[in-house]
Amino acid sequence: MIDLNTSRVLVTGGAGFIGSNFVLYLLKKYPGAKVVNLDKLTYAGNLENLKSVEGDARYSFVKGDITDAKLVSRVMEGVDVVVHFAAETHVDRSIMKPADFVLTNVVGTQVLLDAAVNHKVKRFHHISTDEVFGSLPLDPAMKFSEDSPLKPSSPYSASKAGSDLLVRAYSKTFGLPITITNTSNNYGPYQFPEKLIPLAITNLLEDKKVPVYGQGVNVRDWIWVEDHCRGIDSAITKGRAGETYCLGGPEDMISNLEVVKKILAIMNKGEEYIEFVKDRPGHDLRYAIDSSKAEKELGYQPTIKLDEGLEMAVKWYVENKDWWARIKSGQYQDYYRAQYDSR
Ligand code: NAD
Ligand code: DAU
Repeated sequence: MIDLNTSRVLVTGGAGFIGSNFVLYLLKKYPGAKVVNLDKLTYAGNLENLKSVEGDARYSFVKGDITDAKLVSRVMEGVDVVVHFAAETHVDRSIMKPADFVLTNVVGTQVLLDAAVNHKVKRFHHISTDEVFGSLPLDPAMKFSEDSPLKPSSPYSASKAGSDLLVRAYSKTFGLPITITNTSNNYGPYQFPEKLIPLAITNLLEDKKVPVYGQGVNVRDWIWVEDHCRGIDSAITKGRAGETYCLGGPEDMISNLEVVKKILAIMNKGEEYIEFVKDRPGHDLRYAIDSSKAEKELGYQPTIKLDEGLEMAVKWYVENKDWWARIKSGQYQDYYRAQYDSR
């Protein structure tokens, strides 16, 4: 049994969106936990997310790359539990530059696994995605589960599938006690404004249009980020070593266009703010997760419905304009032009 309250936890990618939410969640829920955050601080890493715990004696930060074996081995000393978030995560960027994804997501994971075996960690928890299972048709009866075959469509999801397979292989071959969670589309505070929901909200706050790929018929399974953090916690503390758990949101079958229309309604904007643009190559039609294994074994239940979560997300971006305005005025401008100007 893993007790996070008495554990030294290495969080990789803790300065990113979900990683930083998880660090804050962990320190709040477990007063006895010690957290080391290893993050390269790529364009997606932002230490501002962790300002509230900067001075907390239980928290420390190491700036570094998970592909750096020497550094990783040093950081792994005395670690009980690894929670591995660090990754290149944006599908559109993986289409522009796949190599970065293979290096961090595949090689970086393997470097961490080696160090975890050598240092005999008690649990290596790998954060993965439903995208590794490919695409579903628009049939509500069909969902991804732990038994779904890996059929990734993008360089991002292929690199995540590669990392999932390595994690499983280290469990079988070296006896490393692992767990994996495959989770759907997260949204909430501190999400980088390249992803659909924060992109839509921040564009509207700047009185810009929202780019919708294709006809907006694609469907995602949306999960509030704190529900995901609770799911990770329960997979580590209640999950069986060697197992995978799928964690989904509370609803499915809501198209991107419907999501954008919900955001427009919350923000009192009309549909003239929708701009249909060229589709993403290899765009998966639908993701949906069957969480029943996690519900049964871990007591997992997502609590925040999409309508409530979108209200909370809009409120957060309205109240934290400084956070995203700094991001949007920097290097992100070059990416935005490359991604959207020719569409
Ligand atoms: P993010 O892009 O917001 O953050 C990624 C973090 O990893 C950043 O802080 C970045 O600096 C760090 N990083 C990148 N390369 C690194 C390297 N080589 N060494 C050390 N640190 C590095 O990502 P996110 O959306 O928070 O996703 C976190 C994890 O969750 C990823 O593994 C992703 O595949 C997975 N996931 C994300 C979602 C989602 O909807 N966002 C859903 C399911 C699973
Ligand atoms: O499913 C989990 C995955 O969710 C994670 O593994 C990824 O790290 C995360 O990026 C996310 O992937 P998606 O590609 O589903 O998320 P994104 O926010 O990029 O896009 C959501 C949907 O919205 C998708 O169908 C593409 C569409 N879209 C996206 C953008 C950025 C648009 O229509 N317009 C846009 O400008």
